[in-house]
Amino acid sequence: MTSVANLQPDPAPILACTISRDVQNFELLIDDMENELGESWGDLGFEDALIFLGQPEAATLQFVAIAVDAEDEADLSRITEVIRAAKAHSIKVILIANQVGPIALHQLLRLGAEDFVPYPLPDGALHEAIERIKQPAPVTPPPAAAAVQPAAPPPIDEPHAEAHPAFKAKGDRNGVVLPVHGLAGGCGASTFATNLAWELATISKNDAPRVCLIDLDFQYGSAATYLDLPRKEAVFDLLSDTGSADSDALLAAMLTFNDKLHVLTAPSDMLPLDIVTPDDIGRIIDMARANFDFVIVDMPRTIVAWTETVLSRAHAYFALMELDLRSAQNVLRLVRALKAEGLPHERLRYVLNRAPKFTDLSAKSRVKRMAESLDISIDVQLPDGGAQVTQANDHGLPLSENAGKNPFQEARCRSGADHRPPCGCGTCAQARHSVAPDARQPCGAPARRGGRRRQGKETQGTLGRVETGAAQAAA
Ligand SMILES: Nc1ncnc2c1ncn2[C@@H]1O[C@H](COP(=O)(O)OP(=O)(O)OP(=O)(O)O)[C@@H](O)[C@H]1O
Ligand SMILES: [Mg+2]
Repeated sequence: MTSVANLQPDPAPILACTISRDVQNFELLIDDMENELGESWGDLGFEDALIFLGQPEAATLQFVAIAVDAEDEADLSRITEVIRAAKAHSIKVILIANQVGPIALHQLLRLGAEDFVPYPLPDGALHEAIERIKQPAPVTPPPAAAAVQPAAPPPIDEPHAEAHPAFKAKGDRNGVVLPVHGLAGGCGASTFATNLAWELATISKNDAPRVCLIDLDFQYGSAATYLDLPRKEAVFDLLSDTGSADSDALLAAMLTFNDKLHVLTAPSDMLPLDIVTPDDIGRIIDMARANFDFVIVDMPRTIVAWTETVLSRAHAYFALMELDLRSAQNVLRLVRALKAEGLPHERLRYVLNRAPKFTDLSAKSRVKRMAESLDISIDVQLPDGGAQVTQANDHGLPLSENAGKNPFQEARCRSGADHRPPCGCGTCAQARHSVAPDARQPCGAPARRGGRRRQGKETQGTLGRVETGAAQAAA
C-alpha cells in the first residue's frame, strides 16, 4: 500500500486503488486487497484520487475500490466527483459501504459503480466482486446457432414497452406465496421462477388465476430481462417508501407481460439488498397476496434480514440446486441456519436443475445418494434444456412461447401444475388454496375432469425421461 507520491516510482504496475477518507477505517479491505493483488495496488484519499485519475499512470488501473462510511454521507459531492472521474476514464468502480444510508448508497450506485460490497466485507465478497467486474459484458448468442435472431437487451425505461395492470386493487384475494431461491449462482432460479409464473398465469384460457412475479434480487434480478420488460423508476420509489405505498402503488409499479402476468421487476439501478427492511418486504408481499392468487418471488441468493419474512409467508419455498458439491454444501448450511433460528425449513421444496437424463444411471444414483446424505427429498427434477433455454431468456420469452417442446419446459410445466389448487379444480376462480399441507381444503366447486396431470410418474420428454416427483412437492 502506498500513497500517491509513492505510487509513481513503484515499477510494478498498479492494478487497483482503494479510495477513501482514511483507509485505516477499512482494515479488512486492506487485507483483502493484499490477498487479491499483492503489492500491485495503492491507496488514495478523495482529493488525491481526483488528481491521480487524470494522470497517464491511472491507465493501468483495472478498478478502484471506493470505501465510504457514515461520516462521508455529509459530503457526498467529493465522492460523486471521484466516481465520475473514474467512469470518465473507463475505470471500473467497486463501492465498499459501511453504515451508509440507502438513499446515499443509491445516489452513489446511480453514478455507475459496477459493484457494491457491504463493509465489514463478507468472506470472499471482494474476490467475487473483482471476478464479476472482470467478466466481459454479456453477449447474445451467435446468430448462426440460434433458430431466430437473438433479441437486443431490453432498453431501460423504454416507454412503449410498458403495459400496466388492467385491474383495480380490491384486496379480495389471499394468494399462495411461492418464493424461488437459488442455492448456487446461476443454478436456474430466475428461469424457473419466470416460467413457473407464466405457466400459472396461463393455466386456463378463460379462468386463469391472477399471478404476479416479484423480483427481489435488487442487484442481479433478471426477471425483466427474461420477460423483456423495462425497469421502472416507480420500483425504486416503492421500495424506498413502502410505508406510504398502498396496493394501488404496488400495481402501478408493476408491468404486465402479454397482459396476463404481472411483474414487479428489480429496480433499474443496482441497489443494496438491505435498502428494505423485513417490514417493507412483509408489506409488499401482503399487498401482493391480497390482490393475486399466486405470488411468485424471485429471491436473491444472499440470505438477508428479510429472507425470514419471505420464508414465513411462503406456502412452499423452492430451493434450486444442481448436482454438485457447492449446492450440496449450501443446502446443509441453509438448513442448519434455518434450524438454528427455529425457522420453518420444512417449507423448502428442493428442485434439482440440469438433472441427469433418465439414461445416465450413474448420475441418477448420485442424485439419490445426494438426497439421502443431505436427508432431503428432491421434489422436482428439471433436465438440461440446452441452448434453447438461454435463447428463450435472451429473447425475453417464457419457454412455452419460444420452445414449448423443450424438456426443461415440459418438466417445469408439470411442477407448476402441482401448485394448482389441491382440490383439483383448475377452473376455480379462487385459485388460492394453499399448497401448504396444513392449509389445504377443497374449494367445494366441481373438479374439472382431466385437468390435472399425472404426478410423480416418469414422463417421456423430447430428450429423455424426467422424474418430477412433484406429487411430493405438493404433499
Ligand atoms: N435447465 C436448464 N437448461 C439449460 N440452461 C439453463 C437451465 N436452467 C437455467 N439455464 C440457463 O442458466 C443461466 C442462469 O439461469 P438463471 O438466471 O435462471 O439462474 P439464477 O439461479 O437465477 O442465477 P443468479 O444466481 O444470477 O440469480 C441462464 O442463462 C439460463 O438460461
Ligand atoms: Mg436469478
